[in-house]
Amino acid sequence: MNVDGKEMRPIWPDEDMKTVKVIDQRLLPHEMVIADLKSLDDIIVAIKEMYVRGAPLIGATAGYGVYLIVISAPDPSIPDDYLKRECERLKAARPTAVNLAWAVDRMLPKLLAARTPAEKIELARNEARAIADLEAENCRQIGEHGLPLIRDISEKKGGQTVNLLTHCNAGWLACVEWGTATAPMYAAHAAGIDIHVWVDETRPLNQGARLTAWELGKAGIRHTVITDNAGGHLMQHGQVDMVITGTDRTTCTGDVANKIGTYLKALAARDNNIPFYVALPSTTFDWTLRDGVAQIPIEERDPDEIRYIQGYENGTVKSVLVPPAESPAGNYAFDVTPARLVTGFITERGVCAATEADIRRLFPERR
Ligand code: MRU
Repeated sequence: MNVDGKEMRPIWPDEDMKTVKVIDQRLLPHEMVIADLKSLDDIIVAIKEMYVRGAPLIGATAGYGVYLIVISAPDPSIPDDYLKRECERLKAARPTAVNLAWAVDRMLPKLLAARTPAEKIELARNEARAIADLEAENCRQIGEHGLPLIRDISEKKGGQTVNLLTHCNAGWLACVEWGTATAPMYAAHAAGIDIHVWVDETRPLNQGARLTAWELGKAGIRHTVITDNAGGHLMQHGQVDMVITGTDRTTCTGDVANKIGTYLKALAARDNNIPFYVALPSTTFDWTLRDGVAQIPIEERDPDEIRYIQGYENGTVKSVLVPPAESPAGNYAFDVTPARLVTGFITERGVCAATEADIRRLFPERR
C-alpha cells in the first residue's frame, strides 16, 4: 500500500536475502520502525510479541521463517530431522491463526522432497515470496467480490453514506496488501461510493484504534473510532448498514474465530437485522475442524496487556496501570462466532453463505 508516497508491504526480504524486514506494528501509528529478523528465533519473537499479526501476515511471516530455517541450517546438508524440528517450533508460535500452520505445511513436504541443499534454498526462497504474493492477490480479489455488497446498500440508500463497522485490524498490515475486511472498503471508496467506517478500538491492544484508523486515514476513507461496546447502540439507531470483519480461523462448517468481541457484534447485528459478513482468503479456512467453539484453540495472552494501557506522549510510548495492582486479569485474545450468526463469507472466489455446502461449492477441491 502507499504510505506517504512510498509503496510498502508489512514484510519483505532484504536485498541480501539473509534478513527479513517487517514493520514493527507495536509502535504504529506513532512510529514507523522496521525490524530486522535474521533467524527463526527472531521470527518467533516477532509473531509472539505481535510485531507482525493478523492471520495472512502471520502465514507470510511463517513462509519467510521457513526460509530462514533453511539458510541458517548448522549442517550444510540441511537434514530432514532439523527441518521438521524447527518447523514444529515455528508452528507453535501462536495458536489461533491457522495460516501459520498452513504456510509451514505447504512448504515442508516440498523441502523434504528437494534433492540438494541448493534446491532447498531456492525452493524456500520462491515459496516464501509466493505465499506473500498469494495473500496479496487473495485480498485484492476479496475487494472485488465485496464491492457489489456495498454498492447494493448504497443504491438502496439512494447514494447516501453507507456506514460500515469493523472490529480489530483486518487491513493490509494484517494481510500483506489490501486487507480482508478492508479490501471491499478500499474498492468501494475507489468506485466513488460514499462510505464511513465505525472502527472498534479493540482492547486490549487497540488494533482498531491504532492500526485500522491509521490505514483508513492514509487512504482518505472517513472513519470514527468507537469503544468496543458502542456498536450495539449504533446498530439500534440505524447507524450501521453492514458489519465486515476478518477472521483468524474459520471451520469448514462456517464457525468464525476472530478478535475477542466479534461474537458480541454478531449477536447485536442479528438482533438488529444488519448483515454480518466475514472476509477471508481460503488460507484461513481450517478444513479439518467442524465445531469452532469446541475445537478452535483460543490464545490467552499476558494479563498485563489488559492491566496496562499503552499510549504515546511527548515522543515516547508510555504504559499506565489501570486496575488495582493486585487485581488479576484474564486476556482471551479471540472468540468464536457461530456460523448461524454470519450472513456470508467474502472470499477470493466470491461470496458464499456460512454453510458447509456453500463453502465447498466455492472450493470444490475440498469436497
Ligand atoms: O491478535 P491479532 O492482532 O493477530 O488478531 C488478528 C486480527 O486482527 C483479527 O481479528 C483479524 O480480523 C483477522 S486477521 C485478518
